[in-house]
Amino acid sequence: LRSKPLKLIITGAPASGKGTQCENLKVKYDLKHLSTGDMLREAVANGTPTGIKAKEYMDSGKLVPDTVVCGIISDSLSSCATGFLLDGFPRTSSQAETLNSLMHDNGLGSIDCVIYLDVNEESLVERVTGRRIDPETGNSYHVKFKPCTDPEVTQRLIQRSDDTEEKVKVRLQEFRANVDAVNGAYGDKVKTVDGNKSVEEVWEQIREIVDKV
Ligand code: AP5
Repeated sequence: LRSKPLKLIITGAPASGKGTQCENLKVKYDLKHLSTGDMLREAVANGTPTGIKAKEYMDSGKLVPDTVVCGIISDSLSSCATGFLLDGFPRTSSQAETLNSLMHDNGLGSIDCVIYLDVNEESLVERVTGRRIDPETGNSYHVKFKPCTDPEVTQRLIQRSDDTEEKVKVRLQEFRANVDAVNGAYGDKVKTVDGNKSVEEVWEQIREIVDKV
């Protein structure tokens, strides 16, 4: 049994498999999953002031301004004394600085480990364009890598508005512009995982890393 709560970040390009691996991580290590992408999509769907500000950025594949994103993460972290798993945050050096101060202010210490999923760009485009979402459960599928087997669910699957080849180019540009600065903020806490492998093989690598933290 761990004596201290785990504080993890999972990072990587769009569709590198962050959400998929978070499903395993949150169960195995009993972590609160904090995905800024999910929080922002929920805010957009509910038409909240945050959602209204975020929508046009998300629809075009651009990053939502730091002030908007830091607001939602601040609310979640302040109620997070147990272990947590940050997914899709921080994405800029300014967000990394904000996270540092928020953790300090909330007596949460520092991040234990950053899992960086490294995937080649050809695969990323294939993963983005083939992803399908069940709007009722939020479950994610892929036409080739994780086909849905229930005909009733299959006919209601949708594609995220930013999951097109055109939008993924913008999302990748945003990612490339910030990845070194964000990873640089965590030094040797960053552990690179070969994300090109199968879901199970990627999970094996992650488990080995986290078990040593
Ligand atoms: P967000 O929701 O965070 O999107 P993302 O980073 O682009 O990541 P995705 O959710 O697309 O992919 P994923 O890595 O979780 O992959 P998944 O596991 O689903 O952000 C969306 C937008 O919100 C941003 O563009 C921005 O506008 C805004 N935003 C969010 N956070 C922000 C922040 N901090 N600051 C500013 N703006 C922010 O896998 C993808 C597909 O591949 C699935 O179909 C899956 O089945 C398949 N797959 C997964 N693993 C494998 C594997 N190993 N082999 C084969 N297929 C696989």
